[in-house]
Amino acid sequence: MSNNPDFFVVKALEDGVNVIGLTRGSDTKFHHSEKLDKGEVMIAQFTEHTSAVKVRGKALIQTSHGEITND
Ligand code: TRP
Repeated sequence: MSNNPDFFVVKALEDGVNVIGLTRGSDTKFHHSEKLDKGEVMIAQFTEHTSAVKVRGKALIQTSHGEITND
């Protein structure tokens, strides 16, 4: 991981969106689940603990690679 880690933004487009962090390293496990209600925004980074993120529910996701909506 670089020392300038990427941020990403998740905006919930419905109630009950889950932003789930997955661990970095040889073991890939869920380590945190954050529940967002409609209109709530989470701004987060990839860190030494978090290498991947799973988003469940309808949300607008912005990263340095672009923007995506899952529906
Ligand atoms: N303690 C976690 C970490 O430092 C917090 C976190 C950062 C997180 N980015 C995340 C949790 C993305 C869920 C999703 O890695």
